Amino acid sequence: MQGLKIFFIFGDNMKRIFETSNRIQTEKLGEALGKRLKAGDFLALTGDLGAGKTAFTRGVARGLGILEDITSPTFTIINQYEAPVPLAHMDAYRLNSPEELENAGFYDYLEDFVVVLEWADRVEELLPADVLWIYFTVLDENRRSIEFLSQTPHHDTILEELDF
Ligand SMILES: Nc1ncnc2c1ncn2[C@@H]1O[C@H](COP(=O)(O)OP(=O)(O)O)[C@@H](O)[C@H]1O
Ligand SMILES: [Mg+2]
Repeated sequence: MQGLKIFFIFGDNMKRIFETSNRIQTEKLGEALGKRLKAGDFLALTGDLGAGKTAFTRGVARGLGILEDITSPTFTIINQYEAPVPLAHMDAYRLNSPEELENAGFYDYLEDFVVVLEWADRVEELLPADVLWIYFTVLDENRRSIEFLSQTPHHDTILEELDF
């Protein structure tokens, strides 16, 4: 019975799906989320190349009050940006192994930063238990489905309040 109960608690976690029709809308959605994040929040992004993960992250950065434009960390692995709540933007696309991300300083960012990790499914074994999963799907040339899956009450609240 105990196990069943736990299953239901986890099964209750909130899911919200948005659809965007262009890059600007995806950035706006990221910005709306970024405004509600706090240090220690971890966004685990998945989805094909060109699905909009970096565009979304650009919005998150703006929501955190970061003025400089962000660039994809595909080659640098981790880019960091100063703000009242700083941002660590990571990309696992080109990694040969999860250890490369660890060696780039992965664990140093988990408490004091908002972390956004593109291709998070490639390094799932490194992830904290309470990440906010965000799945990007290409529907057609300009439309994207963006699905949020919360695993914590804190993220549930954020998703409930996310107006877009
Ligand atoms: N609805 C949309 N949301 C985000 N990007 C879109 C959308 N429609 C078209 N695009 C285009 O798709 C590409 C997304 O690129 P990017 O954000 O770098 O994707 P990823 O980081 O997932 O590889 C950009 O060229 C962008 O202009
Ligand atoms: Mg990208």
